[in-house]
Amino acid sequence: MKSTRLTKLLGIKYPIIQGGMVWVSGYKLASSVSNEGGLGVLGAGSMKPELLKKHIVKCKSNTNKPFAVNLPIFSSYSQAQIEIIIEEKVAIVITSAGSPKKYTQRLKEAGIIVGHVVPSVLLAKKCEDAGVDFIVAEGFEAGGHNGRDETTTLCLIPQIKEAIQIPFAAAGGIANGSQVLACLAMGADGVQIGTKFACSKESSAHENYKDEIIKANESHTALVLKSLMPVRIAKTNFYDEILIAEKKGNDLAELLGKGRAKQGIFEGNLKQGELEFGQISGLIKVCLSVQEIFYQLKEEYKKSLNKVVGV
Ligand SMILES: Cc1cc2nc3c(=O)[nH]c(=O)nc-3n(C[C@H](O)[C@H](O)[C@H](O)COP(=O)(O)O)c2cc1C
Repeated sequence: MKSTRLTKLLGIKYPIIQGGMVWVSGYKLASSVSNEGGLGVLGAGSMKPELLKKHIVKCKSNTNKPFAVNLPIFSSYSQAQIEIIIEEKVAIVITSAGSPKKYTQRLKEAGIIVGHVVPSVLLAKKCEDAGVDFIVAEGFEAGGHNGRDETTTLCLIPQIKEAIQIPFAAAGGIANGSQVLACLAMGADGVQIGTKFACSKESSAHENYKDEIIKANESHTALVLKSLMPVRIAKTNFYDEILIAEKKGNDLAELLGKGRAKQGIFEGNLKQGELEFGQISGLIKVCLSVQEIFYQLKEEYKKSLNKVVGV
């Protein structure tokens, strides 16, 4: 796989970022990805500040390669988490779910490379204006929280490429080396992969959650809660509950306020819990180690490249 502006900026070998994921990406997953030459990312969204600190310390002792922290801005812990990130000298932070203006300057003053996740061209431009170093442009196929506009990765990437100068990774629906090649061909400088790593051996998600990914087909997920905070989840019991509550006009915030993502992803409660994963789950048929995933991605990339150039 070729080096790009993004691999150079982040100091990684392959243009592959593992998406920061609540209840999924602790130090085991992040350090394994970094050790394979990608960018491992700790998902701070499900960690209280003290726990985040523990994961950062463990990540450092498990890899000497670059890793990042994903920081959802709307979290009530985000300010305290920033202080820990700076104290622990984390080199890269990927912010999401909020305005890039909020923390970029503070992080950059501390010498940190800043990425931000966006679902649209408009927000990508705002990131550039705010001084963000790189963008993760995420299409609506992606698992987890997402944009409202249903813009697919295939349509988003070339439009982001036209609109901004800074490096960017494509995200949403990527799980295969041929897709990595396609994203680079469309102008992205790398990719961010979520669902595939959520189903890896090193993911801290519950086995029931991983089994649901393996069982899923391409139409097993849907984007819900568009009026509140859009999120792509599996069509399980909780999905039905959301549809009923929306129909009746019930309070959706109350429905969510029961730690549903933790129940579903971390505790494996398939009835009450929310299972965040993406449309590409249909392609994932086995739970592999991070090392096996990287081997596959590289082989698929090579094969597709040979096919395209006709070697
Ligand atoms: C279980 C799960 C949790 C996620 N949590 C977060 C998060 O805390 N912050 C964030 O920026 N993105 C989060 N995401 C999005 C991923 O980082 C990534 O961008 C996305 O999964 C890419 O699309 P894919 O699932 O099709 O590979 C999450 C995704 C999943 C599947």
